[in-house]
Amino acid sequence: MENLDPLSSLLVFALTAASFIHSTKGTLWGLSKSSKVDGSPALSFEDDEDDPERNIANQMNNSDKNCVVFYGSQTGTAEDYAKRLAREGSSKYNLKTMVADLEVFDHRHLSSLPENSLCVFIVATYGEGDPMDNAMDFWELMTSDTPSFAGESDSAQPLQRLRYAAFGLGSKSYENYNAVVKRIDESLGQHGARHFGPVGLGDNAGGTTEEDFMAWKELMWAEVAMAMGLQETVVSYKPSLKFVEKGPSHYPSLKVYRGHIATNDISTPQRGPFNGTKPYIAIVSKSRELFNSADRNCLHVDFSPQGSNLTHTTGDHAGISPMNSIKEVDRFLNIFVPATTTWEAIARHYMDICAPVSGRFTAQLAQFAPTPKRKRELRRLGSEREYFRMQVTARCLNLAQMCHNIDSQADWSSVPASLLVEEIGALRPRYYSISSSPLLDKQQLSITAVVVSETFDGSHTLKGVATNYLLALQRKQNAEDTPTEADYAWDKIDGQPPTFHMPIHIRPSKFRLPKDATLPVIMQYTEILTPNFELIVAFSREGPSKEYVQHKLLERAQLVNELLVRNAMFYVCGDAANMAGEIKKTLGHIVAQTRTISIADGSSIVQRMRSMGQYQEDVW
Ligand SMILES: Cc1cc2nc3c(=O)[nH]c(=O)nc-3n(C[C@H](O)[C@H](O)[C@H](O)COP(=O)(O)OP(=O)(O)OC[C@H]3O[C@@H](n4cnc5c(N)ncnc54)[C@H](O)[C@@H]3O)c2cc1C
Ligand SMILES: Cc1cc2nc3c(=O)[nH]c(=O)nc-3n(C[C@H](O)[C@H](O)[C@H](O)COP(=O)(O)O)c2cc1C
Repeated sequence: MENLDPLSSLLVFALTAASFIHSTKGTLWGLSKSSKVDGSPALSFEDDEDDPERNIANQMNNSDKNCVVFYGSQTGTAEDYAKRLAREGSSKYNLKTMVADLEVFDHRHLSSLPENSLCVFIVATYGEGDPMDNAMDFWELMTSDTPSFAGESDSAQPLQRLRYAAFGLGSKSYENYNAVVKRIDESLGQHGARHFGPVGLGDNAGGTTEEDFMAWKELMWAEVAMAMGLQETVVSYKPSLKFVEKGPSHYPSLKVYRGHIATNDISTPQRGPFNGTKPYIAIVSKSRELFNSADRNCLHVDFSPQGSNLTHTTGDHAGISPMNSIKEVDRFLNIFVPATTTWEAIARHYMDICAPVSGRFTAQLAQFAPTPKRKRELRRLGSEREYFRMQVTARCLNLAQMCHNIDSQADWSSVPASLLVEEIGALRPRYYSISSSPLLDKQQLSITAVVVSETFDGSHTLKGVATNYLLALQRKQNAEDTPTEADYAWDKIDGQPPTFHMPIHIRPSKFRLPKDATLPVIMQYTEILTPNFELIVAFSREGPSKEYVQHKLLERAQLVNELLVRNAMFYVCGDAANMAGEIKKTLGHIVAQTRTISIADGSSIVQRMRSMGQYQEDVW
């Protein structure tokens, strides 16, 4: 790097592959764009402004509801919380609740909700403080300077009858922490709506979303109960769904749906549009290991979306719908439910059986404990936060592992199947930044993934669901003689030989190369793409001191500033928790130092670059 041309037009700052892709993100990703309403008749509508089915006041009135819980969710957390809250409102406070995707309704009718009803908003924040796709119309209405609400367009307080509560899902790793719920709360207030309890903020980065949610809803319910004159009833568990078992004679075995990858999916042409709930079953054309290390794995996986009409642009994300390993599926079935075909399919493909367990759910399980002794243990775990942290959270146990540790011999079948389905979240797709270019080959789509494997107490190892599925596939596909610890149901699918297909879909992103190809580009990445790129490497795991990409930026402060003056595009990819913030701060310092202005002014310039799209992030 000694001879670096100070005005080289393309400058690449690279981290080691290890620090480029961080493997320890707690975020579980998935796309949930299907529009849904639970607790009311199924809706189908044209995008008609006056469609009565999109009128929430009508819908609540017609279906005799007095509480609606709206969600705006990308990876499903907000949706899960909305469902939980609605169940609690119904069982504990006798409210007539419904859950609704924000996208389904025309929110101009919020002004017509009766005063004795409750409206709850549970919304996540993404990108630069943006709402999810499914909350976009609502967001535009609420942030408009001149929103028009049904029947009250002249009033300064069109939402004066609306009583609401709001909880946001976000992460302190991002600059615009919970920006969406804060803005919605502000706007609802400006239009005259009155809230119950303070707006709740869940922080995914601190791992406290569940606690934040619990604390928020306690305050919220107390105010709601007081204002609406509700009595809290102490209820034992009331299932919200009913299981009806039908024996094999009901369905010819070929008609039983066994999950995403089944013979039908692969042998018949697949029809789009493809998304997280309806992925395309793609051929995995090639997979290989990138690391040369006994204990760390990084995979490059090529998919062939040929004939699928799946298109992507550099910067988009590929969503992979994983399956759970045989080991975890068997553990779950052994502990809780009979190993029928249907349960196997549910546990393998649809339930996030490896996810963290919450103290709240553990406390709820106590009433179904197999023995009084186990009941006491579950109660203790559910009520003593530190004890729960030591026994469960710090070891990253999933539900079946926790119950197995408590008593592996006990009969846990007293836990209702409905409770398991209600409480265990859906197995969501994981997202990967596409690491191939359609300009080179339209028929190939590649991802690069670091395998998640974390050992606790020297004994229990947490295996990331999607990355270990990819690792096992890579080993099997290349017939490697080092099988992975976890095996998957490759060859159980309808008796077919092992199959190397995987359900995928594309999620477009805003992370884009500049339209003007003459602009300089500064990015941190792993490979040199053209001879014009200069690669500068920071090794965070080698040498006496840790060296990060921001140190390399600082060393070349003059050059970085010169490129910025020439309107260079600045790209940051990888870790949101630490790296993204450090780089932004460093750039602010560089701008300040090289232009002899204050650090505050330097940071404002970087901030402006962000809002103009000159500074782009693909971080998680
Ligand atoms: C926009 C975007 C782009 C991304 N791009 C890439 C990329 O290019 N390459 C890449 O490698 N990754 C990328 N990721 C991350 C990727 O989506 C996955 O999150 C990652 O691969 C881990 O998935 P997994 O299923 O293997 O692990 P998971 O099973 O989801 O586990 C992930 C983490 O969750 C926590 N966890 C899981 N189970 C438990 C438990 N029982 N108890 C306590 N904690 C638990 C742990 O901290 C664990 O490390 C991206 C993420 C996003 C959002
Ligand atoms: C790519 C990405 C961007 C994000 N941007 C923000 C953000 O700007 N502000 C914020 O508070 N949280 C942000 N988050 C955190 C999410 O809001 C958080 O993970 C939330 O729990 C997701 O909820 P959901 O599962 O309902 O979609 C972001 C997460 C990801 C993966």
